[in-house]
Amino acid sequence: MGKVYVFDHPLIQHKLTYIRDKETGTKEFRELVDEVASLMAFEITRELPLQEVEVETPVGPAKAKTLAGKKLGLVPILRAGLGMVDGILKLIPAAKVGHVGLYRDPETLQPVEYYVKLPKDVEERELIVIDPMLATGGSAVEAIHSVKKRGARNIKLMCLVAAPEGVEEMQKAHPDVDIYLAAMDEKLNEKGYIVPGLGDAGDRLFGTK
Ligand code: PRP
Ligand code: URA
Repeated sequence: MGKVYVFDHPLIQHKLTYIRDKETGTKEFRELVDEVASLMAFEITRELPLQEVEVETPVGPAKAKTLAGKKLGLVPILRAGLGMVDGILKLIPAAKVGHVGLYRDPETLQPVEYYVKLPKDVEERELIVIDPMLATGGSAVEAIHSVKKRGARNIKLMCLVAAPEGVEEMQKAHPDVDIYLAAMDEKLNEKGYIVPGLGDAGDRLFGTK
């Protein structure tokens, strides 16, 4: 079964509070999501493999370490996942970026796929699928089915806020995928929104409501 990690770093928790606040406007919301995405990227990359190298410092030779060059890929789920991409790329600039376009039918709450474009060598990359919200789990489950169908094998899911229902769906459908969160919330409401959550992530990021 996939593990669930909730990043309790004080900076992540502090910024998430302002992301949740309904008084936070689009500009500030976008900046905060970007900052939290960077902080989460810092945490999620903790286990990346290192290799020993030698460098000359002004004082003499030093045995040092660099990243061993593991190939990474980011896959934001459109639209709202886009809000987290730049923040992650600030720390992992060499990552390739694919996209999966899905929207949640407001009546059925079922995900509808409308776009997929992934890096060519997706089967060799460790992929981080990104979406601020894991609500019913339908979108993340479908997006991960979609990347697996195209060859991806090594996948993590990164979200800001999750409902327990969504985590359970993900663990059932994709037991091989670990889930990284800034918060695990209480429940879903009757419209499939996370309670207390942060509202509609896409609308708040892009100012569409
Ligand atoms: C939101 C969110 C997730 C999805 C989560 O996207 O960004 O992708 O809902 O809900 P689920 O876990 O119940 O599937 P939405 O469908 O509103 O599309 P948008 O990002 O284009 O606004
Ligand atoms: N999508 C959102 O943007 N917010 C929720 O709370 C649930 C799904």
